[in-house]
This record gives sequence, C-alpha cells and structure tokens, in this order.
Amino acid sequence: MCGIVGYIGPKGAVPILLEGLRKLEYRGYDSAGIAVIEEQKLLLRKSEGKLGVLEERLKEEKFLGDIGLGHTRWATHGKPSNENAHPHHDCKGKLAIVHNGIIENFQAIKKMLEDEGHSFFSETDTEVIAHLIEKFYQGNLVKAVQKATSKLEGSYAIAVISQDNPDQIVAFRQDSPLILGIGEQELYLASDIPALLPYTRKVIILDDGELAELNRKNYQIFDLQGNILEKEIEEIDWDLEMAEKKGFPHYMLKEIHEQPDVLRQLLTTPLKDDGIDLPELGSILDFQKKIDRIFIVACGTAYHSGLIGKALLEKTTKIPVEVDMASEFRYRSPLVGENSLVILVSQSGETADTLAALRYAREKKAKTLGIVNVQGSTIFREADYTLLIKAGLEIAVASTKAYMNMLAAFNLVALKMGEGEFNGEKLAELLHFLREIPAQAEKTLHKIERPSRQAAEYIKNWDNAFFVGRGLDYSLALEGALKLKEISYIHAEAYAAGELKHGTLALIEEGIPVVALVTQEDLLEKMVSNIQEIRARGGYVLGLTQDKFVSRLEGEVDFLLSIPNTSDFLAPLLGTIPLQMISYYAADLRDCPIDQPRNLAKSVTVE
Ligand code: AGP
Repeated sequence: MCGIVGYIGPKGAVPILLEGLRKLEYRGYDSAGIAVIEEQKLLLRKSEGKLGVLEERLKEEKFLGDIGLGHTRWATHGKPSNENAHPHHDCKGKLAIVHNGIIENFQAIKKMLEDEGHSFFSETDTEVIAHLIEKFYQGNLVKAVQKATSKLEGSYAIAVISQDNPDQIVAFRQDSPLILGIGEQELYLASDIPALLPYTRKVIILDDGELAELNRKNYQIFDLQGNILEKEIEEIDWDLEMAEKKGFPHYMLKEIHEQPDVLRQLLTTPLKDDGIDLPELGSILDFQKKIDRIFIVACGTAYHSGLIGKALLEKTTKIPVEVDMASEFRYRSPLVGENSLVILVSQSGETADTLAALRYAREKKAKTLGIVNVQGSTIFREADYTLLIKAGLEIAVASTKAYMNMLAAFNLVALKMGEGEFNGEKLAELLHFLREIPAQAEKTLHKIERPSRQAAEYIKNWDNAFFVGRGLDYSLALEGALKLKEISYIHAEAYAAGELKHGTLALIEEGIPVVALVTQEDLLEKMVSNIQEIRARGGYVLGLTQDKFVSRLEGEVDFLLSIPNTSDFLAPLLGTIPLQMISYYAADLRDCPIDQPRNLAKSVTVE
C-alpha cells in the first residue's frame, strides 16, 4: 500500500526521502513522488513506475531543499500515472500533500470546491485535501489542516508542506499509521517503521485524531480539540539488518530461512519445564470459564493460521471456535457478546478489515486478543491483550515467517488455555515436540530445498494446480495454494480431499499437479484413497508427508517430499516450509517479481 516519508532538518531532504521510500518499496506501489521547499519555492516531481524512474529524473535536478515529503502510491482512485501520483498540490502550486488511505466523501467535497472555482489536476480522492487546506488557509497551516480534516470521512494519514510556511510539516492521522522519528536537530515522518530505521530508533506513534506539527526546533502534537499532548517517545528494537537481504536473492527466501530463529525467539521464554508461561494472556485465563465462544478473525495468510488455531483451541479448550475472514465478519452480524473472546491475527497489525473487526468486537464488549507481529501497531495498541509473535521485520509481500510464528503462537495459546483439560503426560509430550520445533524446522530447510525445487520444476509449466488435504492438512493446503498464486501467478485451488469427488474432480486431467498433504496419522488411509481417486483420473500427485509415513506413501504418489517427524499437532509448522519453497522456486523459474507481486501490497490499510 501507499507509503509516506517526511524530513525537516539541516540536510538536503531528497536523498533522505528517497532512502525512506526505498525502505517502503516492499509495501507495494505503482508510482512515486517527492516535494521539497527550496528558497521558499515548492518543487514537486512524480513518476509512474518504480522508484528508479523518479531517481533518474532527480539525478539531473540536484534539489537542495531541506524540508520535504515523499510518497509511494498504490492506486485506488484513478489509474497509476504521473498525474495521479502523490504529492498533490493546490490551485496555486504552493502546498503539497501526501496521503495514505481513502477519503470516502471526496466526490461531494470535490463538487463543492469545483463550484467555488478550484481546478483539479488528477482523478484522485487525495487532491481534494490539498484544495480544502487551500480554502481554509489564512496564514496558519496547522489551523487550515485542522479545519480541512474535520470535513473528511474515511481512513487516512496525511502530511502537508507549504512554501508559505517553509519551516513546518503538518501531519494528521485517522485510521492509517503515521510515525514521527526523532533525530538530532532533525525530524522525520513515516507511515511505516523501516523508513525511519536508517536514521533513528526514537519514535512517537500518532493515534487517531492526532495532528503533529514538525518544525526546525521541535514538534508538537495536538488532539482534535487543539490541546497539546505529551506523548511518550518509544524505542524501536528492530535493527536495520532485518531490512537487508543478507546474500539471499530475495527477501522471501531470506525470511523462509529465518524461520528456525524466529521460532526460537518466540518459544524460548514461554516454554518452561512444567508448562507454558504466557503472561500476555492476562485475565483471559481467569475469564476462560465464562467464555462461550471464541472467534478468530483475520485476512489472507493470517486467516489461514486462524483455521489451524481453531482446530488446536477446540481440541485443548473444548470451547467452540469460529474463524472469520475479517472483511466478512462484521457484515454477518456475528453473535459476539461479553462472553466471547475475539482473537485478531495480523502480521502488520494495521490491516483495515481486521482493525474494523477488533473495534466491532470491542463495541460488543467481547474480550479481544491481538496476535500481531508489529509492536506499536494499531491492533497491538487497541486490543485488550496482545501476544507479539516476534517474527521480526517481514519485507516480502508473501508472508512466510510471520505465518510460521502465528502457528507457533496458536500452539502456545491453545496449550496454555488447555492446561486444565490435559493430563500431564499429553501436555509434557506436546511441550517436548514444541521445544524441538526450531531444530526440526532447521532440518526441514536442509532436507527439503532440493525436492522443493524439483517439485517446482514440474509445477511451473502448468496454469493450474491443486492442493488437497484433510483436517489440519486442508487448512495448510489453503495457505500453500495462496502462496503459489500470489507469487508465481499460477492459479491454485485448495480442496478438502474428501470433497473433490463432489464436483472438482471434473477438473483433474492428465498430468495436472496436485500437491497432496498427508501429515496426519488418523487421516492417512483416507488420504491414500483420495490420492488414488486423483491418480486414476491422470492427476500427477506430489505427496508431502512426515518421514514416519514415507513407506506407506511410496508407490501411491508420483513425487514424494517428507518433513522430519513431529507431533501431528505441529506438522503444519514444518509442512509449510516445503510449500513456501515450492512457490518460491516456481515463481523464480517463471521470472516473477517475487518480493513484490503485481497488484499486491504488504499491509492492506484500505477496506
Ligand atoms: C500473505 O502472503 C499475504 N500477502 C496476505 O494474505 C496477508 O496475510 C494479509 O493481507 C493479512 O495481512 P496482515 O497479517 O498484515 O493482517
């Protein structure tokens, strides 16, 4: 999605803005632009396409301004083009604005402004903000922004500069992240932490309805009533190294390989000899007896982790669990009430639909638990309780290590909440396997790389593929299919293997790749029968199983991959690794832009 950066200080703004935008490239975008003020004059350059196009243009121009804004745009209103790229400006070209999010009432405002004589230069919703500020400006930029934002509906983060106020950046946040970076004698602004990491770890995270004024000496933050707020400066512990590829050709491959480490990062502290220590759950455990239903709400890959979370939680707690796609949740009037626990899962902690679901659950007085990766993100701050999954900065759009740690987090929560239901022996056995899982993930990475590449060699030539499984394997199949679709552009569908014969079997033709997940002992024979049905119709079955079931599957499949033995409960954690690798290599063999697939964004902050 869109990215915002801003700088005010003693240095030239352009290289800082470009570096910041580079760090936000992973979020996905289709055009980029900057605005700086130089000798009291607003200068603005923007280009469709990747940042390199803009950089080339700027090389010839040597702007020296020491205050500026930058933006990467992911088109919502109006196609990707130079005109629609941000920053946008007012009629006189004196002020520039960058914006993330959507202005829902922009058409009505545009009509009003056009009637008043304003001329528009783009098809975007954003541009109305520039003209609204122009309309309200009477020498005080803060006041004009306050007035303008009071007229806007939607979710947005904006930053504004004006040549009439060359020592000031004004920024405002409503439902879209915005972070102030504090340097030595200089201030930064960004919509996402990685853009700040080259310069500072000291940040202030704006809350909804807050306006920040950055000037050459200091900053001030105001609430909606115009009162000055004292906000805490937070220290970010991510380091810049996480934003580097460390010799891997793509972030995705690096992040796949980081999985054993991030598992250790998450599991080491809570896993004790005699149980699980998870203070993050707070009073949820005291309240547990009253919980009549658990809802897990998330999008995409996080939603897939929730499907596995449901199976684990129902087994351990015996409480019914429903899993919802966040974009559907609040529109189906779910039966959420004060005895519900609503778990929101999100890598970014900013996904608009998941955030809306959290707010809906809070309105209904449910207890809320956020399972998130980004500290300080909106879901992190607004949920009653938060469990950080500690996967570190994830840059590739395709989520890998965050999914892994979501699964591990669900194991922790399920085992903790299920402590009362388990006999000691069963719990001890599961704890043993969970303790082993980082090392097993390491082994998986080593043994699976070659066969995954071979599987990808086969799949890459097809336009369609299937992923089938039963039980936990079906949930994992959904994630496998999503991963293949999003980065290799091969159409892939996941099916519960027993469901194929109710329609989809008609699509099985000679040679079509079918990845069959067979990691669950109690479903092994059922899966073998389903595989036979597929092969009888010519499907080429690539089986994925645990080492202990290899002998049963030999001869039953066309190609076999196996992961080290573990508890069936934990098999999805190891099973996801070959699925990630198959997608990665298939995408690589098809020359796809792996880290930034077309049309997609890392953090989806619009509904
Ligand atoms: C994952 O590979 C996808 N890019 C996507 O489905 C993602 O998981 C989804 O958009 C949810 O994001 P979140 O975890 O940041 O909420």
